[in-house]
Amino acid sequence: MQLLNDVLLSVLTGKKPNRTPVWLMRQAGRVLPEYRKVRESAGSFKKMVTTPELACEVTIQPVDILGVDAAIIFSDILVVPEAMGLLYEMEENRGPVFPRRIESANDLRNLHVAQAEELGYVMDAIALTKRELNGRVPLIGFAGAPWTIFAYMVEGNGSKTFSRARRMLYREPDLAHRLLNMITESTINYLKGQVKAGADLIQIFDSWAGVLGPEQYDEFSLKYIRRMCEEVVGVPRIVFPKGAFFARQALNDVNCEAVGLDWNMDIRESRQLMPNKVLQGNLDPCALYGTRDDIRKETIKMLEAFGPEKHIANLGHGLYPDTEVDSVKCFIDTVQGWEADR
Ligand code: CP3
Repeated sequence: MQLLNDVLLSVLTGKKPNRTPVWLMRQAGRVLPEYRKVRESAGSFKKMVTTPELACEVTIQPVDILGVDAAIIFSDILVVPEAMGLLYEMEENRGPVFPRRIESANDLRNLHVAQAEELGYVMDAIALTKRELNGRVPLIGFAGAPWTIFAYMVEGNGSKTFSRARRMLYREPDLAHRLLNMITESTINYLKGQVKAGADLIQIFDSWAGVLGPEQYDEFSLKYIRRMCEEVVGVPRIVFPKGAFFARQALNDVNCEAVGLDWNMDIRESRQLMPNKVLQGNLDPCALYGTRDDIRKETIKMLEAFGPEKHIANLGHGLYPDTEVDSVKCFIDTVQGWEADR
């Protein structure tokens, strides 16, 4: 189907867009009162994720309400470990928790490589959302990077240091690689399924990239991202390696179209290190706590640093839940109204 708004896909396929596209990580979420209403009546986060009609509804909300240039399917990166056999719970105000976690080789026996069919509810949500969007904007599919998923499976919950997960890299590197391989195979199956179901592009979230040093990042994360990008083809791919400033040069040679920057990464330096890539990002989500004037100023500064080409405007990480909707709108309107010399 022809897209009515193809500005995002144009940039990702190397065309000169007539303006810079914009979407936000975590746009389908708690900043919108309309989201909270659906969340309340659904009763739980997991119920929303596993009910295609509800996932579809909140996926489309930011397109209607905020006017973003893409929708991102409402789900979570933790559906993959669950499909592999490790159930997660989403605790109110605490985040994800795994009642069982991976501690030893023994625990791998209860896991399997997930097939796309085991995540059929996500595929159904994507197919339904594509129908409902009716070509208005492209739909983004996503998954966690193997290292980030590994970190949650070994840790059992979120962590400031992920020291349990990192301990395994030192003490049992072979076990770590076995688990990373299983996650990678599962995620490849999952992303291929999303593309088949209708995702127009995909993003790989390596949210915990920054807790590793350069050598370990190469061995335990980038290697698996590379493999995923070699196998999941046919749609543009965005890799978001949060905190991995040291890996930018290596990312320039990964088989993906775009790399997401967080706000710690200097824009001009990133351009020099990754001349082959479209870059996405990277406004500090806290900039949206400023006044309207400040938000406009910071957004224009960012746009000018990236320049009018090969850029997808976004935040440097997901929206914080207490951000005002009008501030989010101000960011989006500023990007969409920006007139650069092209
Ligand atoms: O971007 C979107 O709007 C699409 C939906 C989406 C969610 N999670 C919904 C969600 C996406 C892309 C994710 C990815 C995700 N999930 C990541 C990678 C992105 C990142 O932020 O680094 C990670 C690390 C997770 C794991 C996760 N899920 C955590 C740590 C938490 C709790 C803290 C938090 O950020 O809210 C979640 C819960 C979650 N996932 C919520 C939403 C809307 C909040 C649940 C609620 O409604 O209470």
